[in-house]
Amino acid sequence: MANQTRVLSCIQPTGEMHLGNYLGALRAWVEGQHRCDAFHGVVDLHALTVTEEPGVVGEATLRTAAMLFAVGLDPEIATVFAQSHVPEHSQLGWIMQCQISFGELSRMTQFKDKSTKREGQFVAAGLFTYPALQAADILLYDTNEVPVGDDQRQHIEITRDAAIRFNHRFGETLVIPEAVTPAAGARVMSLQDPTSKMSKSDDSDAGCVYLTDDPKDVLKKFKRAVTDSDTGLDAVRFDRDEKPGVANLLEINAAVTGRTPAAVAAEYEQYGRLKVDTGEAVVATLDPIRTRYFELLDDPGELARLLAVGAEKAREVASATVERVHRAIGMLPA
Ligand code: TRP
Repeated sequence: MANQTRVLSCIQPTGEMHLGNYLGALRAWVEGQHRCDAFHGVVDLHALTVTEEPGVVGEATLRTAAMLFAVGLDPEIATVFAQSHVPEHSQLGWIMQCQISFGELSRMTQFKDKSTKREGQFVAAGLFTYPALQAADILLYDTNEVPVGDDQRQHIEITRDAAIRFNHRFGETLVIPEAVTPAAGARVMSLQDPTSKMSKSDDSDAGCVYLTDDPKDVLKKFKRAVTDSDTGLDAVRFDRDEKPGVANLLEINAAVTGRTPAAVAAEYEQYGRLKVDTGEAVVATLDPIRTRYFELLDDPGELARLLAVGAEKAREVASATVERVHRAIGMLPA
């Protein structure tokens, strides 16, 4: 391990992962495991805030974990675990609910967004206290750095405030984490609407390349990618504002072939060729991932073993933190 900076990123087990998740985030996790002490949780307890049906969360957790291993997280190097396999998350989660005020939680923009979207539906109290559980996720592991996008900054801020408050009340106990900007991944846009991010909530699947897509479907999606009607000699150039569709293809191509978008652009005159080559380059990147993913899903014993390795490593750190926290507060020893 190059250094001991502990870095934690978690992912909710919701939906299938796509090329945007891979090139934008997961790939950096895989590289990061060699540079720092990486912890990655599949946060199934967080998914309960919107779960109302039996039999869904466990399956989604398994698939998400399988994909984390398939993209290259190495259970011998990184600590990859399911959140519910580490009961300390629930334990510290409650304690953190008592370090964060109702007012602070009321100011979380994500809660406001999510509860508004669920208007008329059941809004779980857990959706409101979610940041306390997230704080526990982070603080349990003495995390130094949490790479997050802008949508999560507020949650890291509340985590820091809660940890500072705890230390102030009960004495130096918790490591104060920092939000860091993740290593710039590719910004992957929808192949059908290149002005919005690739996402599973796209109206049609045509704009979204899932990591589990069949190669022929991947090629088809790239062949049908939306570009523009420019027929000039320099039509293939990297210009996000004027030519978002072409720029997206160039950025994806660059990301999977290890070049810059401008260098890729210099090799093409026609959109057709660029689409086909980009599709093929993506297939070459995704092929081994898809193969490994389905191998793992076919071997539930191995997957369970890998997750048990992660849970054991995670619990070792997490249980020590909970013990320290209990001692600091002065809870009656069991
Ligand atoms: N809230 C995060 C999201 O929606 C997921 C998450 C839960 C998380 N716990 C975390 C992210 C801890 C980073 C660290 O994406």
